[in-house]
Amino acid sequence: MGNFADFHARSIQDRDAFWAEQAQLVDWKVKPQQICDYSKPPFAKWFVGGETNLCHNAVDRHLAERADQPALIFVSTETDHEKTYTYRELHAEVQRMAAILQDLGVVKGDRVLIYMPMIAEAAFAMLACVRLGAVHSVVFGGFASHSLATRIEDASPKVIISADAGSRGGKVVAYKPLLDEAIALSAHKPAKVLMVDRHLADFTPAAGRDVDYATERAKHMDALVPCVWVESTHPSYTLYTSGTTGKPKGVQRDTGGYTVALAASMPYVFEGKPGGTFFCTSDIGWVVGHSYIIYGPLIGGMATILYEGLPIRPDGGIWWRLVERYKVNVMFSAPTAIRVLKKQDPALLTKYDLSSLQALFLAGEPLDEPTAKWISEGLNGKAIIDNYWQTETGWPILSICNGVEKAPSKFGSPGKAIYGYNVKLVDDQTGEELTGANQKGVLTIDGPLPPGNLQTIWGDDERFVKTYWKTVPGKLVYSTFDWAVRDEDGYFFILGRTDDVINVAGHRLGTREIEESISSHPNIAEVAVVGVADPLKGQVAMAFAIAKDTSGLTDATARLKLEGEVMKVVDTQLGAVARPSRVFFVTALPKTRSGKLLRRAIQAVAEGRDPGDLTTMDDPAALQQIVEQIKG
Ligand code: PRX
Repeated sequence: MGNFADFHARSIQDRDAFWAEQAQLVDWKVKPQQICDYSKPPFAKWFVGGETNLCHNAVDRHLAERADQPALIFVSTETDHEKTYTYRELHAEVQRMAAILQDLGVVKGDRVLIYMPMIAEAAFAMLACVRLGAVHSVVFGGFASHSLATRIEDASPKVIISADAGSRGGKVVAYKPLLDEAIALSAHKPAKVLMVDRHLADFTPAAGRDVDYATERAKHMDALVPCVWVESTHPSYTLYTSGTTGKPKGVQRDTGGYTVALAASMPYVFEGKPGGTFFCTSDIGWVVGHSYIIYGPLIGGMATILYEGLPIRPDGGIWWRLVERYKVNVMFSAPTAIRVLKKQDPALLTKYDLSSLQALFLAGEPLDEPTAKWISEGLNGKAIIDNYWQTETGWPILSICNGVEKAPSKFGSPGKAIYGYNVKLVDDQTGEELTGANQKGVLTIDGPLPPGNLQTIWGDDERFVKTYWKTVPGKLVYSTFDWAVRDEDGYFFILGRTDDVINVAGHRLGTREIEESISSHPNIAEVAVVGVADPLKGQVAMAFAIAKDTSGLTDATARLKLEGEVMKVVDTQLGAVARPSRVFFVTALPKTRSGKLLRRAIQAVAEGRDPGDLTTMDDPAALQQIVEQIKG
């Protein structure tokens, strides 16, 4: 198609002309008057003056040409359900959901929190919200009541949409008790809760508050709810993510920029074609699920598979069976899932007809070379494309863009900076740009961030500026908080986070949040949580805690009991996803003389590495205790 270097250079040097062209990939009710307003850095406004609607571009726009083509393919190996919705049927379901939300009082700008398992109604809910100009906030179903409560409080939703239960590995996971507890904990109370009853777990509806979805849907079978045209800069959704503090950040996305960014990524990054099928194995609770289970493929006129279930149930061939059955062209998953599959019978990779599959995209965590090689060989040399991005960016920052120009992948590298991203590596101490090959620096992006990236942190512009734009000395640049190097060919290699964020099986978690949860146990005085390398999950959380009352902790059984209690606290407050793999008890934590926790040193010894320079350490015996605990 062209030359990637020129394509990228044009996106930076001739930014507005480049994005004006991409804006033609989507429908506008009113065309934008200004492509990018960067008069108040670092706040970028894209396609100013334009009016559009995300749901229109994902659904309605396709009715003329592909009404009877599959749009949403729901597959649950948990409940043995499989149902395909054409664009026409999806359109009808979304309008029914939108009509229900309207009945519940939802209007443009209202927030709607979605706490749901991977079911088709979750997709209807998201699309119905943006159809009305309401701002959805999907909370990952694996999060428990405390995590959910902080998000309810911050987003202050008028309505919450939920379900009785999810299911994992054949076991019912009740959502409703966690939701009720979260609402009780939260200072903000939603006016209504819309409940999708899957009849998996009994529950008692809260009188006057809880509304039954099936009953309401039956009233609105023929609903016609037009899209509400919104300004390009109108927020489409917020999605909470973890950072350095214990308080999650509501990443706020616009409408026009996001629609254009996803529309452009379909041909250039994913080579997804209208009429094809996209299978993204993420969860709607994460950014990958927002962009590449729901919005991206639908904007691109593709069918998208929404899968509820494990990759190894009924057996390790389930995903490949779906590829064969639905003629999947583009697949998107995470390295952890591939590491799980690697333990299964390799014959499962060759059992099915995978001829439709063009490429497998992997993101969310580092893709290690053995895993990349295993899957690449197993899939007979199909393209395996590592891509790097963040909740904040909404779509990839680094990747090979085969839709622009075919390029080889390099093991261990997510490729080059994508069009629109002016990526620079900088020295964290001096702020100086590092232009030489293989120099380690912080991966930064010069403003304006391209379309689709976060506008701000919900309700907290100051935190947005301070968190992301003020960390590099002397420069207003966006920090990804990732270390990286770039080789002589311009390929980047990600080396890990610069902050206290850890990545467990592709799930981004803040160690501070876990520490705060553990500290709420009555017998915990202080705790440090670090991420430790794990062959399957990439990283796991490990906790080192000081008990208030150590008198009972003299024997291993008592320590195990307290460890179990601490894990339970994390399970019930944050969810099992955040549970530390181990909780060790110590009498002191390694700190600097000024009292700052030496997390890097703890992490190093927990991974059996040399902790490096310890001259600033107050009490070396504290680190020694950790070394001994790890040795067991
Ligand atoms: O540390 C990087 C890691 O995941 C972080 C972002 O996580 P999250 O906000 O959940 O968004 C995931 C979107 C794919 C990054 O700061 N990360 C993401 N992709 C990669 C990666 N690390 C290495 N290689 C990747 N491909």
